[in-house]
Amino acid sequence: MKTIAIVAGARPNFMKIAPIARALRGSGNGLAFSIVHTGQHYDHEMNGVFFEELGIPPPDICFESGGGSHAQQTAKIMLAFEQYCLSGRADLVLVVGDVNSTLACSIVAKKQRIPVAHVEAGLRSGDMAMPEEINRIVTDSIADLLFVSEPSGVSNLLREGKARERVFHVGQVMVDNLIYQRDKLADADTSRLSSSALKARYSRYGVVTLHRPSNVDDPATFSRVGHALREISQELPLIFPVHPRTRANLQRFEIDLGPEVVLTAPLSYMEFLNLWKDAVVALTDSGGLQEETTALGVPCITVRENTERPITVDEGTNEVVGTDPARIKQAAAKVLRGEGKQGRRPQLWDGRAAERIVEILRRELASH
Ligand code: UD1
Repeated sequence: MKTIAIVAGARPNFMKIAPIARALRGSGNGLAFSIVHTGQHYDHEMNGVFFEELGIPPPDICFESGGGSHAQQTAKIMLAFEQYCLSGRADLVLVVGDVNSTLACSIVAKKQRIPVAHVEAGLRSGDMAMPEEINRIVTDSIADLLFVSEPSGVSNLLREGKARERVFHVGQVMVDNLIYQRDKLADADTSRLSSSALKARYSRYGVVTLHRPSNVDDPATFSRVGHALREISQELPLIFPVHPRTRANLQRFEIDLGPEVVLTAPLSYMEFLNLWKDAVVALTDSGGLQEETTALGVPCITVRENTERPITVDEGTNEVVGTDPARIKQAAAKVLRGEGKQGRRPQLWDGRAAERIVEILRRELASH
């Protein structure tokens, strides 16, 4: 039996590996898998809580590679993953998304001559100041199987010279997870969730997430965005679960968001889903939330200059507005007037992307 090593490192990876692990566990595909956790994210609220809630089997092996500079983090992951690969336990390494763990493990596997599959391949923001863009380009340039979530990914990869038969438009595994968890939430008793208490207190609210270095590491940019949030919150209370990087910089730069921006600790998947699915609007710099809001038809204002997920703008509810406070406020005012973008769910965002991936993996591994 062939074994796939699934790499998980940081929070946005966990929602993507959950449906893949589920599909692999489905009987009769003749594939085994191991979960390799790099330890890039390590706090319980950024990590363990997702394994529990999303039904991901516990990792078979964990490294402690979190923290430090990008080079330090990437190097620590590479050293640990090389030892893992040398043990000969993997016939294929599957990486997801665009975090440092994705990059580090792809390079190591490839040099050990282990085939690499990349899930969420081909996305491009065109912004080389974004660490994730470098991770995407390097990973795709060496990956053997490229699983793509939206048509722009296919055209980007073909333009970069990838062979057509290595590129598979399968849909978005994160939407598989979203549909699965939304249905679970619909059947659950939500009264004990802390987000339910917030919903009861603020019947109309927006949600905010911000953690990109370009937004929160620069005091001038973070202050301008913070100013816009403070003004919007006078019309619509904003609930803001705060990433550890963002929390540190809010304090360091002494940014006061005012009383109507409600700060919480990072939320678990279910807590956050329970909150944003009924929000008036999401203001975010996350990649995943741009897609998830499109999938459920919630208006999304993206506080970035670009997006690597253009289908959320072309077909979905996403508007990319940059960091100019006037534009952020204008976009929010439009949503508040009931003129937010309407959208439709993109093709193949149907909850079955992981099944398609597993079928292709089975075929490919059988022929090797
Ligand atoms: C990483 C990903 C980013 C993703 C984000 C989601 C890269 C290049 N970036 O960014 O694409 O959108 O995760 O969260 O891989 N920290 C903690 N506890 C944790 C994790 C992080 O306190 O569990 C703090 C540490 O101070 C750490 C800092 O946050 O140094 C940044 O963490 P890091 O993993 O380097 O990047 P993120 O900003 O989380």
